[in-house]
This record gives sequence, structure tokens and C-alpha cells, in this order.
Amino acid sequence: MPKALKVPKQKGEEIRKFLKDHKKLDLDYKINRDEKNIYLPLKKDLSKKEKDQINQKSPGSKIIQQKRFEEKKQTPDNLEEALKYKLSEEELEKVPSSFDVLGDIAVVELPQALFDKKELIGKALMKVHKNLNTVLLQKSPVTGEYRVRDLEVIAGEQNTHTIHKEYGCRYKIDLSKVFFSPRLSHEREKVMNQVKPKEVIFDMFAGVGPFSILIAKKKDPKKVYAVDKNKESVRLLKKNLELNKVKDKVEPIHGDIRDITPKYKNSSDRAIMNLPFKSGSFLDEAITLLKEKGGIIHYYDIREEENLYEDAVEKISQKANKNGYSTRVLDKRIVRSYSPKVWNIAIDVELS
Ligand SMILES: C[S@@+](CC[C@H](N)C(=O)[O-])C[C@H]1O[C@@H](n2cnc3c(N)ncnc32)[C@H](O)[C@@H]1O
Repeated sequence: MPKALKVPKQKGEEIRKFLKDHKKLDLDYKINRDEKNIYLPLKKDLSKKEKDQINQKSPGSKIIQQKRFEEKKQTPDNLEEALKYKLSEEELEKVPSSFDVLGDIAVVELPQALFDKKELIGKALMKVHKNLNTVLLQKSPVTGEYRVRDLEVIAGEQNTHTIHKEYGCRYKIDLSKVFFSPRLSHEREKVMNQVKPKEVIFDMFAGVGPFSILIAKKKDPKKVYAVDKNKESVRLLKKNLELNKVKDKVEPIHGDIRDITPKYKNSSDRAIMNLPFKSGSFLDEAITLLKEKGGIIHYYDIREEENLYEDAVEKISQKANKNGYSTRVLDKRIVRSYSPKVWNIAIDVELS
């Protein structure tokens, strides 16, 4: 419990303001009152100068050990407000303005300079967003073949499992073991909107199923094949098919797309290649999976600003031509920013 400054009622507002301006008022606790006095919770000891100033303004004020102070229940409006007086101005400027929310988990990225304040920031985030049960610090970008990131719990429950809702679908996720990004939600919707009834879709890098399940749920595909090399992704994908009642439409397949492709040669109207950085090395597989008459490839990559689409379109055309197809770019777009001047892009190409 904090110490309190006991102040005669009529001087209460003036001294409250003085303490707040001097960053000595503890904003986590409610101010107590009785008939004659108010009791202002103190965050830190007052300096001699401050004591003198207070005595001049309000003779008779004195510091006491307060037994009971009720913690404030009201919710701060935003993270900055929640961290005011807890971080320096310089630190406050470095606090990120956005973060990802997946179900009841928030994932934040912090600059190195704020690492020793991570618990404080995690707790503040939970105060602002009451629906959160866990805050994770992202300690590395998504890496490795399975595109997973290094995470640390900085507030709330020790947990990396959640259920995330997106466009009326629900996804079970374990963020420590599989890839999932809510920042791709609009992209998934864009692809889903292009699907025509009774198409066969090949989701070559399916993860826990957000492209496949959205398409199965909102459109009327004949079949969606959903492949992933990560065993844990496929385990959750299967659970998600049940959760979203699309088991009859989506076939989950565990394995490396290179090994799977021969069995599904010329099966599909559409191939989704959501493996940025490496999609280019799987173009032969995507073309093999399309029906003999051709189909559509959704190609994803990470590209620098000066050459967003050119090289990628050229590469897709060359590969397609080699296999006897001509190409038409249906759309090309930026999906999201990846890092300064580097973008996650999408290209929709029709092969015929
Ligand atoms: C960027 S994630 C995309 C997942 C999903 N499409 C989504 O939007 O959440 C790429 C996925 O490809 C999988 N993967 C990587 N290499 C693979 C391969 N050779 N064959 C099949 N899956 C692979 C990874 O395990 C990962 O789940």
C-alpha cells in the first residue's frame, strides 16, 4: 500500500494537481476521502522542496501510512495513457502503436531499448484490452521452413494456444508451433472472392487452413486440397476442419509439396502459393497441379520497392511458357509492408 498525503478537503484539488504535475501521485489507486480530509496516494517520497511548497499552499497537510487504498478499476483509453508516469517521455515514444491480436493473445514487437520494460508494457496492454489473457513478445521474425517465430510470455497466462476468429471462421492455433498472421485476412478474402463454384483448389502451403477453410465455407468448391509439411499445422488444420464443419470439402495432407505433387498432377483449377521468399522455387509444382487446360496461380513473394513485380512476373511467364502455357496477369498488389521499402506482394496469374 502506498503512503498518502493527508490534505484538508478545501485544498484537495490544488494539491492533487501539484502532485500529479510532479509525477508523485499514484494513479493506480483511488483517492480516499472522509468528512474533513482527502488522502492522496503517493507514488514516490516527496523532496524537501516539494514538502515546503505543499506546506505553504496547505498548512496542516501531512504524510501518513494509509492502510487501505482501493485499486482503480477504470480502463485507460490506450497504451500510452496506461503507461504514462510509468515510462519516461523518451521511452513512451518508442512504444509501438500497433500489435497483432489473435484470439485472446496479443503479440507485440519491442525495440531493444524497451526490453527491460517488457512486463510493464505487457500488463498495461492487458489493462487497456480486457479481452486479452496473454501478451507475447515476438523475439524473432518468422523463420525456418515452418515459418514460426520465437515468442516469450510477458504478461498474463503462460499460454500460446488460442482460437482466432476471421470472417466467420474459427482457427485453433498454437503460436509457438505454427504460422498464422491476422494481417493476411484481407488477402485471404481477396482470393476467396475469385473462386467460382465447383472449382478444385490446391492450397500448397496451407498452415492451419485459413485460405482453404474460408473458401470451403463461403464458396462452393468441388474439393480443396490443403498441404503442409509441418505436422503440427496439419494436426490443427484437421481440428479446424471439424470446428468449421468443412471436413467433407477439404482434404488435409501432411508432407512436402514436392513429394505430394505427382499424385495430384492436373487436378486443380487454382493453386495458392502462400510461401513468400520461396514460392519461386515451387512454380514447377504449381503448374503441374493445374488442369491440362490451365488455371490460376496466386503467387506470393517478398520484394523490394524498385522491383515489386517485374522479375516475378517474368519468372512465372518463363516457367509457364516452358510447360506450353501462355500467361495473363489478372491482378498484382501489395499485401502488407514487410520492412522499410520491402513489401509482401501478391500476383494472380492465369495460365491457358
Ligand atoms: C507462410 S506459411 C502460410 C500458412 C497459411 N497459408 C496461412 O495463411 O496461415 C507457409 C507454410 O508452408 C509450410 N511449408 C513450408 N515448406 C513446405 C513444403 N515444402 N511443403 C509443404 N508445406 C511447406 C510451412 O510449414 C508453413 O505452414
